[in-house]
Amino acid sequence: MNIVVLISGRGSNLAALLEAKLPATVAAVISNKADAAGLALARAHGIPALVVAHRDYGSRAAFDAALAAAIDRHAPALVVLAGFMRILTPGFVGRYAGRLINIHPSLLPSFTGLDTHRRALEAGVKIHGCTVHFVTPELDHGPIIAQAAVPVLEDDTEVTLAARVLAEEHRILPQAVRWFAQGRLVIVDGRVRVADEL
Ligand code: GAR
Repeated sequence: MNIVVLISGRGSNLAALLEAKLPATVAAVISNKADAAGLALARAHGIPALVVAHRDYGSRAAFDAALAAAIDRHAPALVVLAGFMRILTPGFVGRYAGRLINIHPSLLPSFTGLDTHRRALEAGVKIHGCTVHFVTPELDHGPIIAQAAVPVLEDDTEVTLAARVLAEEHRILPQAVRWFAQGRLVIVDGRVRVADEL
């Protein structure tokens, strides 16, 4: 099973996927930013690492069409957004319906969008975390595959809280991809059920 991973930066979730020994092949890594550190990581693993720079396109639709063309060359069964920081058009999302997943650094539906750790601290929540979900046209709202919670400690800063959440991201993203590769994710009425292992 081929997967394509989309990134925008550091690539630590990509690293977690590559270390997880998944029953799937990362066929390509694509970044919308040429300076994404995750591209070098992909190349070090011998994985094709491509840039489709959003700045080169005049509209979201044109960028998404170029991105889809780059993805489809690798015929992936699954596309993983691993720190990909662009909003995707409904057309793009529809093209990959049921085979596009995202890791988000909050316990959705709380704290959609950006600056999740700062906003969690400001809200005074005692529990924070991360979510892997299927992508639907509404930002950060699709069916939830996996979540992990961490405590928010009294002396936390954005940096310490983000690090605690990130360690859990590195656990649940490979877990979700493994379940997908095993054909165990079933969406019923907008909710994900993880079927028993055969
Ligand atoms: C991760 O924390 C991921 O959850 C977040 O970006 C970071 C990427 O780190 N994604 C989003 O905020 C998506 N809206 P990484 O490049 O080291 O994997």
